[in-house]
Amino acid sequence: MALTLQEARALLDRLPRAALGFFPTPIMRLDRLSDALGASLYIKRDDCSGVNLFGGNKVRKLEYLLGQAVRDGATHAITYGATQSNHAMETAWACRRLGIQPILYLTAVVPPRPEDVRANLLLDRVLGAEIHIVPIEPGETEADAEARSFEMGAARAAELNAAGSKCADIPMGGASALGSVGFAAAMAELRAQSDAMGLRFARIYHSTGTGGTMAGLHAGRAMLGMDDARIISVAASPKDAAAYLDKVYGLTRATLSLIGGDAAPDKAAMQLRLDQWQPGYERPSAAGSAAIRLLARTEGLFVDPVYTGKALAGLLADIEGGDIRPGENVLFWHTGGATALFAEPEILGEVT
Ligand SMILES: Cc1ncc(COP(=O)(O)O)c(C=O)c1O
Repeated sequence: MALTLQEARALLDRLPRAALGFFPTPIMRLDRLSDALGASLYIKRDDCSGVNLFGGNKVRKLEYLLGQAVRDGATHAITYGATQSNHAMETAWACRRLGIQPILYLTAVVPPRPEDVRANLLLDRVLGAEIHIVPIEPGETEADAEARSFEMGAARAAELNAAGSKCADIPMGGASALGSVGFAAAMAELRAQSDAMGLRFARIYHSTGTGGTMAGLHAGRAMLGMDDARIISVAASPKDAAAYLDKVYGLTRATLSLIGGDAAPDKAAMQLRLDQWQPGYERPSAAGSAAIRLLARTEGLFVDPVYTGKALAGLLADIEGGDIRPGENVLFWHTGGATALFAEPEILGEVT
């Protein structure tokens, strides 16, 4: 059965949480873009989730993941991602806030140039994280190199633990049930904000990668009975749709069982969009670049080439295709990542 906001908050409050971000993040109406497109568009500013200029969706997950790590007495935390991973950078600063040593295993999907270190990798360096770059060796796939990075991380954790440290394992993308609790809590935050604004969002668009955000949003939707909100998850990388939806559904169920209560997620409501990720992860698309320019030039706001630009392009395609009814309130959930605007040129693409 769906919970009231108060009941949901009471359950969420039982889990350990480290206060890391600025919440609630603002919701703004995109007046100029709405007028230009004949739609009613809003944006949820998780790019402003704090605690510095470089917010993003991972802050919500890290509040719970590192909340648990602090409770466990962690001295170090290891996580994984690409060399320009937003998650890795956000984990590194969040660890610093909590006095935990950050250790990063970064797969060189787009190989960094040692003489020209940019964007998140530069911030990881400024933060003094212990950084291990894992190249994709000849004959290896990206997934092979990633699997190797997990083995290297596990070995480093074993070494540290044997020496008397306590090493927390933070999954890639923060994608675990505990991490996704952060986005179930975010749906409660959204419900409170939309109640105060006196409106309902018929559609929520967001970028999906590891699936942790998507699972959390669906967990929150089920927990609060927000059946009138369609969540449209735009993939930032290629996926096998059936396997991905199975994975996210499983994660959603695990998230709900961690929170408690008896809400069940609706698998049929999980909408994965695979029409925007091309030509590849960390490879810019013409539609994504156009979305970056359009939002900047109508609203003065920045989305990024890897995640949010492509998700916004999915929303724009639905307006253009007549899928969104005029008057339908649409929320674009900005999940951060604009540091990619300062990344290697092959990640950025043509945005000017
Ligand atoms: C900016 C941005 N948006 C969206 C996502 C996707 O989130 P998730 O990995 O939870 O699917 C990520 C991380 O992967 C991200 O960095």
